[in-house]
Amino acid sequence: MSSVTFPAGFVWGTATSAYQIEGAVNEDGRGESIWDRYAKTASNIKDGSSGDVACDHYHRWREDIALMKALKLAAYRFSIAWPRVLPEGRRSVNERGLDFYSRLVDGLLGAGITPYVTLYHWDLPQSLQDGGGWRDRSTAEAFVEYVDVVSRRLGDRVNHWITHNEPWCSGFLGHQKGEHAPGVRDWPTAVMSSHHLLLSHGWAVPTIRRNSPSAEVGITLNLSPSIPASSSPEDADAARRYDGYMNRWFLEPLYHAHYPPDIVADYAAEGRLPSGEMAFVRSGDLRHVAVPTDFIGINYYNRTVVRSDRVPEVKNRPRSVLVAPQSERTAIGWEVYPHGMFEVLMRVHLDYRPPKVYVTENGASFLDGPDPAKRVIDRRRVQFLREHLLAARRAIDEGVPLEGYFAWSLMDNFEWDHGYTQRFGLTWIDYATQERIPKESAFWYRKVIEQNAVNGRE
Ligand code: FCB
Repeated sequence: MSSVTFPAGFVWGTATSAYQIEGAVNEDGRGESIWDRYAKTASNIKDGSSGDVACDHYHRWREDIALMKALKLAAYRFSIAWPRVLPEGRRSVNERGLDFYSRLVDGLLGAGITPYVTLYHWDLPQSLQDGGGWRDRSTAEAFVEYVDVVSRRLGDRVNHWITHNEPWCSGFLGHQKGEHAPGVRDWPTAVMSSHHLLLSHGWAVPTIRRNSPSAEVGITLNLSPSIPASSSPEDADAARRYDGYMNRWFLEPLYHAHYPPDIVADYAAEGRLPSGEMAFVRSGDLRHVAVPTDFIGINYYNRTVVRSDRVPEVKNRPRSVLVAPQSERTAIGWEVYPHGMFEVLMRVHLDYRPPKVYVTENGASFLDGPDPAKRVIDRRRVQFLREHLLAARRAIDEGVPLEGYFAWSLMDNFEWDHGYTQRFGLTWIDYATQERIPKESAFWYRKVIEQNAVNGRE
C-alpha cells in the first residue's frame, strides 16, 4: 500500500461550532441567539429539535479535550457564542461567558492543542436581530465591539482567528432562502446583509491585530465549483451566475475590492437590490473589506451542477437550477466529489493568491452507529476523508500554500435545519446518555496524524 506524505508541520485538526455542540443555552448569563429563536418554531428544524442540550459540551469540555488529545489532534477549530459574551449583543459584558472560553483555551493549550477561533458561526444575539440584524449596518459595528472584547481577553493565547464562517450561509441561506435563522426570504435584505457581514470582517481585522499582535487572521468561505450540466451556452451562463452568487460574491470583494460586475448587473435587472442599486455600499467600504489577511479558510463539501431555466416571476429571465448527478451521495444528499477539493483550492490559488490556505471544514454525514461491541465502523467516511485529503495533497503539489486541514466534525452534533438527523462526527454521540464513542474514522485519522501521511487505496 503506497502512502502519500504531507509537508512537515502540516496542521491536523477537527472543527465544531458553539451552537451545534454547547447546549446550556440558559446558563451563566447567556443571552438568546437567532438560532434559539428560529428553532422554537418546530417546523423550521427537520426533527423539531434545537441546540438546547446538543452535545452538552459546555459541561463536558474537559472530557472533549481529553478525547482530542487521545486522537492526537494538533489543532481544534471552535466558535465563540456572541450571546454568551454580550448577551444583548452590545455593551454589557458577561464575564462568565468569557471565562468559559478562557478555560477552554487554557485546557487546549495544556493538552498541546492549538486553538483556531471562529468569531461568528451564525449565532447572532437575538436583540441585535430585533434591531435589524445583518441588514443593518449597525450590526457590523456591534461585531467589532464584540470582537474587541473577545480578542482583548483571549488574544494573548489565541494565535489563529477566523472572523466569519461561511458568510454565504449567514447572508443568503438566512435571508434569501430562509432555510437558516433568522428565516427571512428577501433578496435585497440578503444582499445588504452579505455586505454588512463582509464589512464587519474588514473592520474587525485591525481590532484583532491590535489585541493579538502575533496572531494570524482570516475568514472562512464555503466554496463550490459551479459546473454547467451541458455544453449549451445557456447552461454555461447558468454556471457563471451560480458561481457569482456563491463564490465570487465573496472572493471578489475580499481580494479585488469590488463586487462582481456581471452579478451586480443581473441583480439590478432582476429587482434583487434595494431600490435597484448598490447604494448601501458606502465609499471606502470595499477598501475595508479587502484588508489584507494572513490566510483564507475554505470549507469544501461538494460541487454544484447547474442548468438554465426560466423564472416567470422575474420577467422570464434565466435562472440557475441545481441538477442532481447520478453519483454517490452522503446521508444528507450531497454528492461525493473529491476532485472538487482540488478544483476549489487551485481556483482560489490562481485567481486570488492568498498567502496561506487552510481547509477549515470537510467531511460527510453517514449514519453508521455502534454495533453490539460498541464499535462504529464508518468505512464510507474513511473513504471520503481519504479521497479528499489525496485531492488536497495534489493541490499542494501544484503550488497551493495549503497548511492545514480540519475535519468536520470532532463529533456528531446539531446540524442546523436538519437537527440531529445527520451525523458528521468522527465521534458518535449517544444523545440519551451523552456518551462519546470514537468511530473507526477517528482512529484512522489518528493514524494519518501520527504518520503525517494518508494511505492510498487499501
Ligand atoms: C457547514 C457549516 C457547519 C456544518 C457543516 C456540515 O456549512 O459551517 O456548521 O453544518 O456545513
